[in-house]
Amino acid sequence: MKIFIDTANIEEINTANEWGVVDGVTTNPTLVAKEGKDLRALINEILGIVDGPISVEVISTDSEGMIKEALEMSNWSENIVVKIPMIPEGLKAVKILNENDVKTNVTLVFSVNQALLAAKAGATYVSPFIGRLDDIGHDGMQIIHDLMQIYNLYDFKTEIIVASIRHPLHVIESAKAGAHVATIPFGVIEKMFKHPLTDIGLEKFLKDWEKSKK
Ligand code: E4P
Repeated sequence: MKIFIDTANIEEINTANEWGVVDGVTTNPTLVAKEGKDLRALINEILGIVDGPISVEVISTDSEGMIKEALEMSNWSENIVVKIPMIPEGLKAVKILNENDVKTNVTLVFSVNQALLAAKAGATYVSPFIGRLDDIGHDGMQIIHDLMQIYNLYDFKTEIIVASIRHPLHVIESAKAGAHVATIPFGVIEKMFKHPLTDIGLEKFLKDWEKSKK
């Protein structure tokens, strides 16, 4: 399973990238707005750090506007993946962008049927938001299991990005389901490192080593 980092924060991207665990980056308008920087300049910085797919979202809600934005963004680098919202105008844009070899990530996906339509339209990636589904009392992960089954049955080329990940268990469940990608916030990647026995074990090794030198 590929790991993308779900942030637009340069420090977080740099740190996780140095750990050697980052295959790509996903951003969204909320994450970009938090950084208070010019979009193009920010994405350029990210492109200079991670050599992998970088998702950037359009702001337009009509297909013509989305296509215009997407064509411009895709010129920034071949690593750009354009995020398109899961609305009818969005899929209209995805169809045309796919025909023009522009990579797309259909976002704000909350149901299996939405993801099925996105794959039919030719999306490169689809992003079901599992945490936001859990928040309203649904089982977000079930969508990932269902989609893996359906995409495999019909050999869809669309890759599933598990998005809106809230905790390390979501990552384990994504990997067990065979998801192609999990896009993970920095704080959750940090938590994936942690085990008290690692810290206790390291402290003891170092103490024993010091003692042996006395
Ligand atoms: C995905 O690409 C989105 O950026 C993200 O996962 C949304 O997560 P949130 O529900 O934590 O905002």
